[in-house]
Amino acid sequence: MDTQQLLYKGKAKSLYATENADELLCVYRNDTSAFDGEKIVQLDRKGMVNNQFNAFIMQKLQQAGIPNHFIKMVREDASLVKRLKMIPVECVVRNVAAGSLCRRLGVEPGLELKPATFEFFLKNDALHDPMVNDSLIITFGWATQEQIDQMKTYTFAVNEVLKKLFSDAGLILVDYKLEFGVYQDTLILGDEFSPDGCRIWDAQTKKVLDKDRFRKDMGDVVEGYEEVAQRLGISLTQTA
Ligand code: TMP
Repeated sequence: MDTQQLLYKGKAKSLYATENADELLCVYRNDTSAFDGEKIVQLDRKGMVNNQFNAFIMQKLQQAGIPNHFIKMVREDASLVKRLKMIPVECVVRNVAAGSLCRRLGVEPGLELKPATFEFFLKNDALHDPMVNDSLIITFGWATQEQIDQMKTYTFAVNEVLKKLFSDAGLILVDYKLEFGVYQDTLILGDEFSPDGCRIWDAQTKKVLDKDRFRKDMGDVVEGYEEVAQRLGISLTQTA
């Protein structure tokens, strides 16, 4: 099926060359990983659900003026994207305490965080994505101060758009991770936005509907993603 040259295989997505040197085919696989790739399982339908989820979110962000690499969906499990030079840091914003914030700081899960917090993590599985800061990013040349400022501005701008989108669907956007890259000298949002890289809870029951279902062996992982998609009004196409 994917006859083009495979350029990069990540933990959940594969990137292929296209006829256009500035564009890549991004294929969402069913592979689901946690704990920096220590736990990897295939989950039926996950690739196509995340591809369509991401397409919906990236288009909403574009409409809100947040530039990103998404061009168009070309298959139920694949999209065409702009080819970026990625910045090797992850940008995490949290509206509610969960996950590593609770482990590191002893904070009670579920605590509302006002104002929302921002953290940088270095993308490095072998080192378990250590937290880094502006000073380290500049000294090691991962990004410039201007790029750091832009990443923070865009990451918080995403929060304003998506907090409302999720809350209108009766959902809480607890936290999320974004990655940025450079396209023709301009910093834009890359990677993906899907339940693999964020936490989403039902607003009333606090039911977990994201990858924590996989991390914590709660079952019904893709069913959780599909419930979020359906509540956001995303009509998923399925062949299987
Ligand atoms: P954390 O609580 O483990 O630090 O994660 C915060 C959010 O960022 C959570 O929604 C998961 C997401 N995330 C990833 O998707 N990949 C990563 O490598 C990291 C560190 C976080």
